[in-house]
Amino acid sequence: MIFSEAAERNKQPILNILRPLLANRTAVLEIGSGTGQHAVFFASALPHLIWHPTELPDKLAILTRMCRSHPSENLAAPLPFDIDDDHWPTIQADAVFTANTLHIIHWPQVCRLFSRAGALLPQQGIFCTYGPYNRDGRYTSISNAQFDEWLKNRDPGSGIRDIADLQQLAEKCGMPLQHDFAMLANNRLLVWRKN
Ligand SMILES: C[S@@+](CC[C@H](N)C(=O)[O-])C[C@H]1O[C@@H](n2cnc3c(N)ncnc32)[C@H](O)[C@@H]1O
Repeated sequence: MIFSEAAERNKQPILNILRPLLANRTAVLEIGSGTGQHAVFFASALPHLIWHPTELPDKLAILTRMCRSHPSENLAAPLPFDIDDDHWPTIQADAVFTANTLHIIHWPQVCRLFSRAGALLPQQGIFCTYGPYNRDGRYTSISNAQFDEWLKNRDPGSGIRDIADLQQLAEKCGMPLQHDFAMLANNRLLVWRKN
């Protein structure tokens, strides 16, 4: 994918939520930056912090092209990164952001992502996760149920995650849920804060 219509639609609503949350932060590590539309938009709107985009090595070229064509002083060069990597980027980030990844990666990778984000963040650091979620074992919309079926047909290990499962996981990683924002198209932006 070289351009995402969804990212174009959701970037401003996400920024509206992120802006106050990131007001006093210095660096954000983004996991699974995709086309880079979020990275270039957020970096230019939040000049007080460094935005560090990352992507799987085989998808890095698209992200790098986007970042080079929208340079900002505070937009770091994209890094190759796979959640399964043993070595995580050695970045002093006080926030981690990821959009539309938790339903793509497999549950062990979700666990790894929360555990490593929890280890990387300083006290009061935040982990922001945007995307579709289930609540109490139920879909929150017909479109999310259809999307989940499509995901699982394509990859049985993928699928929309339940907020309660994520809460259990995040609490084990020392990052309880701090905010749960309703977003466009039955998505949510969850904010986990390290304590
Ligand atoms: C649905 S796309 C979302 C892209 C972008 N964040 C957005 O919201 O438009 C999911 C992204 O997760 C990335 N991804 C999948 N598996 C990954 C892994 N193991 N480690 C890091 N990123 C991964 C994919 O390459 C893809 O860019």
